[in-house]
Amino acid sequence: MNFILDATVKAVKHLYDIDIAAADINLQETRKEFEGQVTVVTFPFTKFSKKSPEQTGTEVGEFLKNELSEVSGFNVVKGFLNLSIADEYWINQLYNEILPDTFAVVPANGQKVMVEYSSPNTNKPLHLGHVRNNLLGFSISEILGAAGYEVIKANLVNDRGIHICKSMLAWQKFGNGETPESTRLKGDHLVGKYYVIFDQEYKAQIKELKDEGQTEEEAKKNAPLIKEAQEMLQQWEAGNEEVISLWKTMNNWVYGGFAETYRKLGVTFDKFYYESDTYLLGKDIVDEGLAKGVFFRKDDGSVWIDLTSEGLDEKLVLRSDGTSVYMTQDMGTAQLKYNDFHMDKSIYVVGNEQDYHFKVLFTILKKLGKDGADGLFHLSYGMVDLPTGKMKSREGTVVDADDLIEKMEQTAKEQTEAMGKVDGFGEDEKQQLYHTIGMGALKYFLLKVDPKKRLLFNPEESVDFQGHTGPFIQYTHARIRSVLSRAKITNADVTVSQLAPEERDLIVSLTQFPEIIKAAADGYSPAVIANYVYEVAKIYNKFYHECSILQADDENVKEFRLQLSAASGKVINKGMKLLGIDVPERM
Ligand code: ARG
Repeated sequence: MNFILDATVKAVKHLYDIDIAAADINLQETRKEFEGQVTVVTFPFTKFSKKSPEQTGTEVGEFLKNELSEVSGFNVVKGFLNLSIADEYWINQLYNEILPDTFAVVPANGQKVMVEYSSPNTNKPLHLGHVRNNLLGFSISEILGAAGYEVIKANLVNDRGIHICKSMLAWQKFGNGETPESTRLKGDHLVGKYYVIFDQEYKAQIKELKDEGQTEEEAKKNAPLIKEAQEMLQQWEAGNEEVISLWKTMNNWVYGGFAETYRKLGVTFDKFYYESDTYLLGKDIVDEGLAKGVFFRKDDGSVWIDLTSEGLDEKLVLRSDGTSVYMTQDMGTAQLKYNDFHMDKSIYVVGNEQDYHFKVLFTILKKLGKDGADGLFHLSYGMVDLPTGKMKSREGTVVDADDLIEKMEQTAKEQTEAMGKVDGFGEDEKQQLYHTIGMGALKYFLLKVDPKKRLLFNPEESVDFQGHTGPFIQYTHARIRSVLSRAKITNADVTVSQLAPEERDLIVSLTQFPEIIKAAADGYSPAVIANYVYEVAKIYNKFYHECSILQADDENVKEFRLQLSAASGKVINKGMKLLGIDVPERM
């Protein structure tokens, strides 16, 4: 509301002969308990007025009321000037801003951003932690796209290493030639099964060796299985044909399975990177860092960076035998990504257990003066718990992503049937709806929380049609579509001149959508969108209950309320799309 800012600048100049900048004025939405829609924080002006906050607010209020025809009244609460904006202004907002197709459409800003997310290991299926990762990564990509960025969604697949060799070895030994086809198991689940079998057999061998008198540590090192797995990794690195062929076969099984889970989650990628292509990268950056004096070599030949002055510690970037560590690879991969896309920003969606890794990585790239180093951001997120207890990726108790999706569809089905919301639906349409609601519940529940916060996922609560949930918002959308389908918008010129409070509240809230998109993009937070869409849905429902739409006693009013409904439906739909959530036409 630039016109209010500009007039306030004028007021301060006129009243107190002081020049202030519009950007320094704090404008807020008026708190629900006070009259008005827009609030100017006038407290800082008391410095210039040398009067009480109340007196200062009143003086500025009088000025604005005289100056602006849109300001129909005001009240002052301490250092806050609450302005009532004339209904005409809001009605014009609806017609000139919100209803046109250009609403909340941001022109391209000429900047490129890469969002790396998902980045799974290929030895087992995706779990609940990955679900949060995937949903966050996809949603933030949509939000950045809506905010004007060109977005590249990237997935760095960890397709090589000891963990994959474990699955491969166990399959070779105990698999009897099983395939996804022969077992009707999803490929990632089949490979995950052998990862678990490896672990069981390995543990049994450790126990045996301990019974023979070895210490735990010795037994872990000497167990024949782990030695074989390590040997297999060496053969892989040497390019052994048989090993490579098995590796390709099993990875392809996993990719088939992942593709299905991604499809059900509704997430997509523009670019895949594979660690088998990138794990040797980064060594030339080590040389570069040594030459620039950013790294130093220890007597044993290992290379380090000293970050003690940054409040961090010494960090290894190359082992004494010349082999890479995680950091080496990530330095190289960052360079590769930049060479490929020359992006302005590069975002890594990775769990908060890697906070330290990314702090160090970004510090290194900045110290080396790498292009793009200023645009690096770690979108860190907390763990997801289920009510039954903690989920850990290295324990057998993880919640599988596919099982979870199925449970969500099941829960959606039970709740929907119990409420009689699918009467008159065909079988396919019902299945589609359960999927839409189940996924809407899951996605909304995970995205409404600030990414940094750890969260407790409760499947039943997430589907509550009355709660702060995805299905509540989806239901509101379906309600709007239903109203619109029962009447015809004539698009006649509407001549309402006065608004009911609920109509005004709704328009005020809809006008905020563009700033909300910007705030969500700037803060990398889908939660900002999620909470906003919930507000809109709540306010729409209040409007729906307080103001008759189809039964309005005046055709003009009816038409106006239909248009307002259509605008609300559009904002809800678009907001939910930014979260990766579909909204049904009917339910
Ligand atoms: N694959 C890794 C893991 O599962 C995550 C990779 C994150 N991305 C990165 N550029 N380091 O822990």
